[in-house]
Amino acid sequence: MNLLIINGPNLNLLGQREPKIYGKETLQDILDDVFLYSKNHNINVEAFQSNHEGEIVDMIQKSNDLYQGLIINPGALSHYSISIRDAISSISIPVVEVHLSNVFTREKFRNHSVISDVCSKMVVGFGSNGYKLAVGYFIS
Ligand code: DQA
Repeated sequence: MNLLIINGPNLNLLGQREPKIYGKETLQDILDDVFLYSKNHNINVEAFQSNHEGEIVDMIQKSNDLYQGLIINPGALSHYSISIRDAISSISIPVVEVHLSNVFTREKFRNHSVISDVCSKMVVGFGSNGYKLAVGYFIS
């Protein structure tokens, strides 16, 4: 099984960005851990990060033919990007939404995600472990 993890805007700054909220691990630290965990379960995981909405839409579209599942943390785009929502609706592979922080206990504008109802599952507030929990959804 091949999975893709997409991370959106500002997640390239993990480790230095608001560490009290998002933790001290860099995105690469988190991904290395996920890659190892997935390998131990015979799952191949690849990762893509972009600060640009259109690039994320392109990658979601491409993922349908290349992967059996998609794990996505669209960052702030989760709260307003209808183009990311539409891209997710357009593909047939299962998509799991991940947020490191608990977006429901933060500012009001973070309480709503425009992609949740077109995703198969949502993992919220488990910090970097959220990505491994999302991979767990694909482990049969
Ligand atoms: C986030 C939550 C979003 O509200 C925020 O804009 C992010 C990160 C999270 O992983 O907790 O960039 O998606």
